[in-house]
Parts: sequence; structure tokens; C-alpha cells
Amino acid sequence: MKILSEEELELKFQERIDKGEIIEPKDWMPERYRKQLIRMMSQHAHSEIVGMLPEGNWITRAPSLRRKAVLLAKVQDEAGHGLYIYSGTETLGISRDQVMGDFLTGKAKYSSIFNYPTLTWADIGAIGWLVDGAAIVNQTALAKGSYGPYARAMVRICKEENFHHKQGYEILATLMKGSKEQREMAQDSINRFWWPSLMMFGPSDNNSPNSAELIKWKVKKYSNDELRQRFIDRTIPQAENIGLTVPDKDLKWDEETRHYSHGEINWVEFNNVINGRGICNKERMKARRDAHENGAWVREAANAYARKKASKTKAA
Ligand code: 3HC
Repeated sequence: MKILSEEELELKFQERIDKGEIIEPKDWMPERYRKQLIRMMSQHAHSEIVGMLPEGNWITRAPSLRRKAVLLAKVQDEAGHGLYIYSGTETLGISRDQVMGDFLTGKAKYSSIFNYPTLTWADIGAIGWLVDGAAIVNQTALAKGSYGPYARAMVRICKEENFHHKQGYEILATLMKGSKEQREMAQDSINRFWWPSLMMFGPSDNNSPNSAELIKWKVKKYSNDELRQRFIDRTIPQAENIGLTVPDKDLKWDEETRHYSHGEINWVEFNNVINGRGICNKERMKARRDAHENGAWVREAANAYARKKASKTKAA
């Protein structure tokens, strides 16, 4: 059998991608494809885990038992998503310890959105509606991506995100039917979360170093700006439906393109947040580092149990 050169293998790999074939963990893949996926998937998993913090902040203060139970379930879902995607990342040959190490030392990023504080109950509505709404737009596209374990994880995760999206919208719709103070609280929350939600889609296309490669390999099916536009087009009618507005004086419907055109995103703020200088970056990292340290005994106990079980099986 002829041994293929690296170049020939890469050509064959690209042919598979172009035909729409799904790549599985044991298939040959370029080192760069593997590295890009590890970067993107691990950052996604970290985002799910850090995303529990701003919402977890409101579990004890939810306005009713029903709201508390729903929020608890949602935060728990996010933990599941994180663990699921960490497992997916391990199929690329990197250990959980390495992935966690890169996160806790600040080498790996997590989504900018979770560096904003949740100041009122309405923020739980805004996170469900806007943040999970943005995540759905992004992740339904990723569900059609080329790497099997990641794409399959997205299918399941998006189902749960849909429920999160609806519960967020329902919180805001309820507030908008309430008192003047409740309506103002809902609007204030959208004023604070609108632009950060648009930033979730990443830098604009002419400033996104990873997009070209990820699109060539069909990990990403659409560009950052395309998905951001899709999110805006979908979300504005929902806002109007319950009487909310978004804080963008340049936003308008363009009859010709049949899309909303929008104002300029504050990229200075975005770059500050993704480089550790957002409102809550320090607090979020401290919470995760403390949780990791406090959980050391669980990892040690699990390892001791696994070792004991392995030695018993060997002896039998
Ligand atoms: N927050 C933090 N970092 C971001 C970012 C954001 N919103 N957008 C981009 N970046 C980072 C990138 O990670 C990259 O940094 P790196 O090279 O050091 O790793 C750099 O900015 C340049 O951006 P690119 O556009 O070149 O990066 P990508 O092509 O990877 O696109 C992305 C960025 C759109 C976030 C893409 O990685 C992606 O789709 N990731 C998977 C989805 C994901 O991570 N979602 C997190 C959302 S939160 C969530 O899902 C939780 C839910 O419960 C709400």
C-alpha cells in the first residue's frame, strides 16, 4: 500500500470535507484542524461553566418557587453542556487536566458575555432571551459542522437552549405586563445586555483571524457577521412584540436587503473584555479557581477509587 505524504493526506481530507463527510476522532486530520477544534471547543466548554455564575447569583433570590426551580434546572443544564463539550474535546487527544490548566491560568478564553454583572431579576430574563438566543443562532450552525462529536453535542445542547430561550422571554414578557417599575427594570436590562450579546458572535469578519480556516474546514458554516445579522433580524420583532426597544439609534429595517442595519459595535470594549479587563473578569476567574481548589478532594477520591477498582479487576 502506498504511503501518502502529508500533503496528499491533507488533499484527501479536504476532499472529504468538501463532500460533506463527517470527521470522527480516529480519522486522519491535519494537526491544525485538531488544534483549532481544541481551542474552540474548550473555550466553548469554559463558557458554559462560567455562564453558570451570573445566573447562579439569582437562585436564592428568584421571585417565586416556580422561578427558582426553573432557574436551578437551567443552571444545571449549563453544567451538563460544559461537561459534554469537555468530553468532546478529549476525543481530540487532549486531557481534561490540560484543558482545565489552560483555562485556570488564563491561557484559554471564555465568552465575553459572562463578564457582565446580573444586577436585577430582569437580567435573568435578558440572559435567557438574548444570550441563549445568540447561542442558539451560533450553535444550530455548529450542529452542521464537520467534526462529529462536536456537531452531535450541539444538536442536543440546542434543544435545551431553546427551552432556556423561551423561559427568558417569558420572564421579560411577564415583567412587561407588570408595573411601571417592572417595565423599566426589563428595559434597563436590555439596554445593558444588547450590545454585549452582539459581541458574543466575535469580531467582525475582516478582523477574525480564525474564521477563514474554520470555514474552509466547515467547522464554522457562516461568518461571525452573518450569524450576528441573523440574530438581530430574528430578535428585533420579538422585542417589539412585548414592547421592548434596543439601545441602537442607528437600527433600521432595510427594505432592499430585507435585513436590519445596525450601529457600530464598541470593539474597544470587546477587546478589553476578552483580554481580562471586563467588569467581572477577575471575579469570574477567582470563582472558578476557588471551585477547582475546593474540588481537589473529589478528584483525589475519584482517582483513588478508580485505582482500587483497577487493581481488584487485575487481581481477579
Ligand atoms: N468572547 C471571548 N472571546 C472571543 C469572542 C467572545 N465573544 N469572540 C471571539 N473571541 C476570541 C476568539 O476565541 C479568538 O481568540 P483566540 O484566537 O485567542 O482563541 C479571537 O477572539 C478572535 O476571534 P475569531 O473570530 O477569529 O474566533 P473564532 O473564529 O473562533 O470565532 C466564536 C469566535 C464565534 C466565539 C467561535 O469560536 C464559536 O462559535 N465558538 C463556539 C461557540 C461558543 O464558544 N459559544 C460561547 C457562547 S456561551 C454559551 O454557549 C453558553 C450558553 O449557555 C449561553
